[in-house]
Amino acid sequence: SGAVRVAVLGCGVVGTEVVRLLTQQGADLAARAGAPLELVGIAVRDVAAPRDQVVDRALLTSDAESLVDGADVVVEVMGGIEPARGLILRALRGGASVVTANKELLGKDGPTLYAAADEAGVDLYFEAAVAGAIPIVRPVRESLAGDRVTRVLGIVNGTTNYVLDQMTSGGLELGEALAQAQELGFAEADPTADVEGHDAAAKAAILASLAFHTRVSVAQVHREGIMAVTADDIARATATGHVVKLLALAERSGDGVVVRVHPALVPQEHPLASVRGSFNAVFVQAEAAGELMFYGRGAGGVPTASAVLGDVVTVARHKVNGGKGPIESRYAQLPARPVSDAVTRY
Ligand code: HSE
Repeated sequence: SGAVRVAVLGCGVVGTEVVRLLTQQGADLAARAGAPLELVGIAVRDVAAPRDQVVDRALLTSDAESLVDGADVVVEVMGGIEPARGLILRALRGGASVVTANKELLGKDGPTLYAAADEAGVDLYFEAAVAGAIPIVRPVRESLAGDRVTRVLGIVNGTTNYVLDQMTSGGLELGEALAQAQELGFAEADPTADVEGHDAAAKAAILASLAFHTRVSVAQVHREGIMAVTADDIARATATGHVVKLLALAERSGDGVVVRVHPALVPQEHPLASVRGSFNAVFVQAEAAGELMFYGRGAGGVPTASAVLGDVVTVARHKVNGGKGPIESRYAQLPARPVSDAVTRY
């Protein structure tokens, strides 16, 4: 079979790293997908803007629609509602599989996209939309599909976790911690979506939909941000053996599901209390599996690109092999080395 034609929509922080991995890891990705992944174009608003040198300028186009129409796999990393939504629907309806990192769009209008993918019989994958590099979408959507999830508890926003962590360890007021986060590049220039809990609410809606096999939109998520948290609140939490975390929580309630985002007192001995700085973690409780925790980097171009590329390999493999799983037999074998002191190192 021929190459899988991959189109990338958006070339910001994440898009650039996706292009870098596609370009530099091409041979490995081809082996795992079962066919070469050919980057056929990168849609951007401004083709003349300065770019990282890994981006081949000949691939840039401002005509996203034509690019989508000529692709087998469309990677949407532009963010926002439109034109992302229209382009994703166009791709799906035209028979392309889609990989997206767009939590805002999925949180708001996921069911429309899921339905379009199902109707067209193509894949819609979005590992990067929740908690960046952390594999959490696939585990909840696929690995736990045979179990009954009872509760999902997540620290899914790195900016607010960093701010609350600095308030806890440095005794800072929220404004000071936020200013510091912005200076260090952990927070956006406009951190409203983070501190008001919108970003976490979108991710909570996505996780709740997957965990409980239902449809939850961001409008149904109870949301409270961190702006009202004071240094005094933090000091009192510490004094009673707690840590203040912005939690995204989804749980069964009767025959329904409750989804909420708000600052919460987490006991210091709970695994989520140890999630420091801008890291993310998701704690899942399921009837048969028991308690699980997923931890890692929830933001940043390089970690997020890892999740995007994993999805690209998977949907490309499905295109090549008609929905079969990993093609382990095609992998090259690494030589087995004798045991060295590596075995004693942590
Ligand atoms: N602003 C988000 C965060 C980035 O702070 O976690 C990842 O969605």
